[in-house]
Amino acid sequence: MKDVSSLMQTQLKADCIDFLNTVADVAELNQVSVYVVGGFVRNLLLNIQNLDIDLVVEGDGISFANKLAEKIDARTKSHEKFRTATLMLQDRTKVDVATARTESYSRPAVLPDIEPSNIKQDLARRDFTINSMAIKLSGKGIFFLIDLFEGEIDLKNGLIRVLHDQSFVDDPCRIFRAIRFEQRFEFIIEDQTQHFIRSAVKINLIDQLSRDRFIKEIKILLNEVAPIKCVDRMRELSLFDTIVPEILKEDFHWAIMKNIEGALALADKIPMPKKPEAWFVYFHAMLMVKNGEVFEGMMKRLNLAKNIDMRLHSAQKCFIEAMSDLKEEKELKPSEVYDIFSKQSPEVVILILAACPNNRVKKYVELYFTKYFASAKINLNGDDLIEMGMVPDSSFNDIFKALRDARINGHVTSRDEEVSLVESQFLK
Ligand code: CTP
Repeated sequence: MKDVSSLMQTQLKADCIDFLNTVADVAELNQVSVYVVGGFVRNLLLNIQNLDIDLVVEGDGISFANKLAEKIDARTKSHEKFRTATLMLQDRTKVDVATARTESYSRPAVLPDIEPSNIKQDLARRDFTINSMAIKLSGKGIFFLIDLFEGEIDLKNGLIRVLHDQSFVDDPCRIFRAIRFEQRFEFIIEDQTQHFIRSAVKINLIDQLSRDRFIKEIKILLNEVAPIKCVDRMRELSLFDTIVPEILKEDFHWAIMKNIEGALALADKIPMPKKPEAWFVYFHAMLMVKNGEVFEGMMKRLNLAKNIDMRLHSAQKCFIEAMSDLKEEKELKPSEVYDIFSKQSPEVVILILAACPNNRVKKYVELYFTKYFASAKINLNGDDLIEMGMVPDSSFNDIFKALRDARINGHVTSRDEEVSLVESQFLK
């Protein structure tokens, strides 16, 4: 066992060290063994700043979390079923406190049944060697690294390795996690682990994940710093071949995909009222196929939760329409640009930019958000039209559209001019 106290002193922020010392005090006082585990230890050894802290208690995790929370004046939220609790510190660091446990899986891909146990068994239930290390925070051996599976060696060699051959069968989410860590740290999934992934994919385990767990993993993966590399690795490992073999087969996916990062960077500089969700843009780009029937078939087989399914359907429809409207190289009037972009979600705007990486479309997007979006406001409302002697019916929509177009195109600039336009064009 290796003493990592000096590494902790040099790499961790003072606040974090203070917190871990408090954990040690509360553990001593309550005579329980507490460990910091998982990503925190991995990141410490990699010299990467850590945001979240995972603690494991040999004993009652929830009761320990409450005592700790009392001591540091934090709030806790506990989950009885999993015997875990979460603390939110003043600086918004999230601390998860778990009861050391063993896990058993009644079926592949379902959530495990858990039993309280000790740190050794808790580490043995984890995903990869690099995530299965702990540092003791109390009693004998305090601040010593516990590394039962040669995680530190794998970290040095840049390898993602599972602890046992059933790891992906127990939890197919780990397939996405393996890719995520591999690409994030520029590591390599070790050969046998790759073989386990391919076997798990072949027996269709990804499809057995619940819809929520599947989309949760996709979301985290596509929010990584290098999502395209993760997507490419998913393709290489044939992750979707049993569910949606159609995806990522055509060049246009990659043509769009590789422009998304630039489009997101551009969007960051434009005052968009709502910022795009990067993961959704990449996910949609993955699922984009030219043939509508093929798209429907894929959506059916993916069987996503209703809100995501509806969002993708609507985004696909809007994207296709916008691409058709922008197809001709002719110069568009400001009101035409408004008509195209006012229908789009921020995510579709990014896809349009990525699919048409030319100055014309870029200029339209910039003009829409910096100018037309604000200039589309009109003064007259329904009451004003009634006061002018008009009878409310569907023609009001045409009037409002004409007023808005005139505003955007700069033909009217005041309320009086709006009144004149209505009088000349709509009041006989
Ligand atoms: N873990 C696991 N199997 C999973 C999910 C998590 O074994 N399917 C374990 C790993 O030991 C992991 C720890 O739980 O390190 C915490 O999980 P999580 O917070 O999701 O991951 P981190 O390793 O902290 O990674 P990240 O930096 O992405 O937060």
